[in-house]
Amino acid sequence: MSFSAIVVAAGSGLRAGAGVPKAWRHLGGRAVARWSVETLAAAGASPLLVVVAEDMRAEAESALSGLTGIIFVPGGATRAASVQAGLARLGDAPDDHRVLIHDAARPFLTRAHVARLLAGLEERAGAILALPLADTLKRQDEGRLGTPSREGLWRAQTPQAFALGALRRGYAAWDFATEPTDDAQVVSSTGGEVALVPGDPLLFKLTYPEDFLMAEQLAGGARQVRTGMGYDAHRWGPGDAVWLCGVRIDHDQTLIGHSDADAGLHALTDALLGALGAGDIGEHFPPSDPQWRGAASDRFLAHAADLVRARGGQIVNVDVTLICERPKIRPHRDAMRARVAEILGVAEDQVSVKATTTEGMGFTGRQEGLAAQAIATIELPR
Ligand code: CTP
Ligand code: MG
Repeated sequence: MSFSAIVVAAGSGLRAGAGVPKAWRHLGGRAVARWSVETLAAAGASPLLVVVAEDMRAEAESALSGLTGIIFVPGGATRAASVQAGLARLGDAPDDHRVLIHDAARPFLTRAHVARLLAGLEERAGAILALPLADTLKRQDEGRLGTPSREGLWRAQTPQAFALGALRRGYAAWDFATEPTDDAQVVSSTGGEVALVPGDPLLFKLTYPEDFLMAEQLAGGARQVRTGMGYDAHRWGPGDAVWLCGVRIDHDQTLIGHSDADAGLHALTDALLGALGAGDIGEHFPPSDPQWRGAASDRFLAHAADLVRARGGQIVNVDVTLICERPKIRPHRDAMRARVAEILGVAEDQVSVKATTTEGMGFTGRQEGLAAQAIATIELPR
């Protein structure tokens, strides 16, 4: 059976601080509001109304881009006014049409929550997700501390589901001398029966700054870990120094290449691009392009790191192995780790640089060239 959803996202999020209204702050790589809007869209909500403040409209459209069937509705000065603005857009839908009202500030909505609410609505005019209280309650009254009973008390969450007629009747009759704090209150006031269905602690509302810290931890579970590998080799030629992993080492030869021939940074750049599925270094910086002649390779690596961040991701760790008989890498290893960490914008303990010889075998053993291989692990939003 069909249902509509109204996601209210027009608040200013004053208690959460940070300046940006909380629905449009980022959580695990996407806007807070996008989390629940995606779930409602997947559950089949249609129409799916998102109520936004006029001055956040452009931000909202970009945060929800790519999702189809969303209708943006200008919000009101209070939550109840924003809900009513959404209701008005449902027009003359019949009284038994089902509508879910949801706070955008509750990101961790699942289709199971939606199914539970719609089932609860079969017998009643409304159904809400609610949780029993776990903590002992205290009431401070003129210096005296009382302990009210928890008996019969519940914490109400959203979404809240209603038959459209009951919700319309409730709002039509509500005198706005007091602001309702949820929609079930409005429906109950005109005699509408509201069922309680089991809520979920994970559906908590982002209200204070510390709620965002908790949400970030939970959002971490929604990230994917990816790895990529890279390999590069350059030929030895006449020279007096060589660049390896972003460090210049005095040497009796140099590596020949179009850029500075830093095989360590090239392998690492390819490893990051590989983890992103974003092609290879040659595609991003074609050797045929004269602007990369003699270029310092730290630019290539910084670009790959920027691409990871642009996807809302982060670098977990990288590991480079340089394969050569000479020069000795060990004395330069710490400087290389520090430089790579600096280019990537990560801590030194996220970077490893190792070296090996091939005991005289192969092109590295014959000292025709130097090879490097690298692996990178990154985390991306799903
Ligand atoms: N809301 C709304 N229109 C308003 C006020 C609130 O659509 N005029 C929405 C919020 O965007 C939020 C939900 O109602 O998704 C719950 O409100 P609340 O947690 O109070 O959010 P804010 O009002 O944004 O925050 P604060 O009260 O701290 O300013
Ligand atoms: Mg508010």
